[in-house]
Amino acid sequence: MNGVDMAADTPKEDYFKSYEDLEVHHLMLNDHPRTEAYRHAISANKAMFKDKVVIDVGAGTGILSVFCALAGAKKVYAIEASNLAELMKEVIKENKLSDKVEVIQGRVEDIELPNGDKADVLVSEWMGFYLLHEGMLDSVLNARDRLLKPGGSMFPDKADLWAAPCCLPSLYDFWEDVHGVSMQCVGKAWRRKKGNSPEVMTIDPEDLLGAGNLVASINLATVCMADLEKMSVKHVVAANSAGRYQGVCVWFTVRFPSGLVLSTAPSAPATHWKQTAIVLPEERTVEEAEPLAWELTLARDPEATRHYNIELVLLDPEEEKHPTPCSCHMTKCIVIRKFMEQQEDAEDEDFDEEEGEDDDEMEDDDEEYESDVEMNSEKQDLNDTKKTKENGAGGH
Ligand SMILES: C[S@@+](CC[C@H](N)C(=O)[O-])C[C@H]1O[C@@H](n2cnc3c(N)ncnc32)[C@H](O)[C@@H]1O
Ligand SMILES: [Zn+2]
Repeated sequence: MNGVDMAADTPKEDYFKSYEDLEVHHLMLNDHPRTEAYRHAISANKAMFKDKVVIDVGAGTGILSVFCALAGAKKVYAIEASNLAELMKEVIKENKLSDKVEVIQGRVEDIELPNGDKADVLVSEWMGFYLLHEGMLDSVLNARDRLLKPGGSMFPDKADLWAAPCCLPSLYDFWEDVHGVSMQCVGKAWRRKKGNSPEVMTIDPEDLLGAGNLVASINLATVCMADLEKMSVKHVVAANSAGRYQGVCVWFTVRFPSGLVLSTAPSAPATHWKQTAIVLPEERTVEEAEPLAWELTLARDPEATRHYNIELVLLDPEEEKHPTPCSCHMTKCIVIRKFMEQQEDAEDEDFDEEEGEDDDEMEDDDEEYESDVEMNSEKQDLNDTKKTKENGAGGH
């Protein structure tokens, strides 16, 4: 989630206390893309839950535990550190699942499952702003390593963090005309201060100036805590339109084992995570296809380990390695692009010629031709189903 304050340093006890606020849970439960993504991912994967032992790490009101029990789990251990655990027991009773769901109050780090039991599946909604804020992933990894059977499933099983250049009109326009007075210098100082702490806000997809680039891709089955200490990446992104380059927009996606993706991108249905903006103190006007380069670093704050310090350093695109292919207007990238297009055209021609030969062969063998068509249409159907599910989860 979360409703936990971005700026505040949260000592351990205060962190769990903040989750006793029912407003926070209402916000999360009422976040349809979030809750529906979990519901679809679990209910569409009944085979992974049927007669299995599940741990729900940070179960809150118990909603994910109920989804797992309804999907056929033999036993769900709903682990919750805060006093909300008491209310969760009522939720479980209200849904007549007390024989399946066992609520355990405590920090997951301090808990062993009854009779040394181990889980087949670990479910958790641990994501914070810009994915890592709140540091709850540490607790999930602790539970994975101690309480999940080797080879057990993680729900979700992959998390990706993205960044794209953007325009941030709400952080700029105000200062151009403050009741008729120009205050651009105040705006610059205000943004410089903000630059130190990223801004959680909704960013219009129209305000993105380039594609999303992967900052980090986390395999939740294998990642370890040391990997989460510091992440640093350099990007070169071609502006997809002319505009005012005012910052970098960061968002995340998580994927479930069925392939269903919960996205918090500006173009996806809105979630309570919104997006996170890293604002530049001064804007730059950019042309279409102009290369923009930066280095983005997320480093865990040694003083407040549930927080990350995010640093954005602008780089000179002339000095940096561009992706291949790159859609920027620099001569070297245009040349590479043209070369790759020619290669593709040549490959397409070769393929068309081979296809022509195959067609002739197929006419001689009708049975083989029929079965190939059937296989292809099956793949198509599967793809369509997956797309519908993804849209369904996002669109509710
Ligand atoms: C983001 S909420 C998710 C609640 C619920 N699973 C849902 O989806 O609505 C995270 C919950 O995990 C709990 N939590 C966080 N860290 C925990 C830990 N180390 N041990 C047990 N519970 C924890 C919090 O108190 C909070 O209720
Ligand atoms: Zn380029």
